[in-house]
Amino acid sequence: MPEDPGQELAELVSRLKEWLRYQGRLGWAGVTVAAKSRPQSEEDASQERLTLEEIRQEMGDCRRCKLWRNRTHLVFGEGSPTAALMFIGEAPGEEEDLQGRPFVGPAGQLLNNLLNKLGLSREEVYIANVVKSRPPGNREPEADEIAACFPFLEKQIRAIRPKVIVTLGRVATQTLLNTRTPLTRLRGKWQKYGHIRVMPTFHPSYLLRFPRERLKTWEDMQKVMEYLASDEKR
Ligand code: URA
Repeated sequence: MPEDPGQELAELVSRLKEWLRYQGRLGWAGVTVAAKSRPQSEEDASQERLTLEEIRQEMGDCRRCKLWRNRTHLVFGEGSPTAALMFIGEAPGEEEDLQGRPFVGPAGQLLNNLLNKLGLSREEVYIANVVKSRPPGNREPEADEIAACFPFLEKQIRAIRPKVIVTLGRVATQTLLNTRTPLTRLRGKWQKYGHIRVMPTFHPSYLLRFPRERLKTWEDMQKVMEYLASDEKR
């Protein structure tokens, strides 16, 4: 007999849900609970709302995709558990993998600069990635890796309930919005994830390569800051 049948059942249900979403993302039409009918963070009473600690615990020493084999640390995310503003990147790079923290390498430096200029600290926002283990050689995460990891990001969003999510780059934007629309068409324009506003912008790594594009991300962030300020007054 299992020591705690309730806990065992909860784990089983959680894994089944993950598997169904995964199958849906791989295109199994029989699973309508997946991709297209994502919870989208609506105030859905049937959706469990775990704490960040519980979500981290549920991930454990995650081996749900192949990325665990090469990682040093799983990079869960960090910041305020009640942040009004959440940033979502793609996946940890080398430095993030070594430290177990998001955006602490060169791209992170640029993100820090942006936050400073906006008068924000890392502690008051929340920073996470779509995929929590480093893809080898910093390649893009593959569909099965995203499918395995994305449910945990959804849970993080549900836990934090940010007012605004800023998606950094194409992978984060297309994954969160469940679309294949190019980033160039979405960037700088308000989108929605359930009831939450989403502002897609460039990834800091892209801005390191193309500094002239930084102005656009600055403008995107002005829209975000204006909305957050106006929301505070309401
Ligand atoms: N790039 C990302 O997308 N995320 C990180 O955490 C670091 C670099």
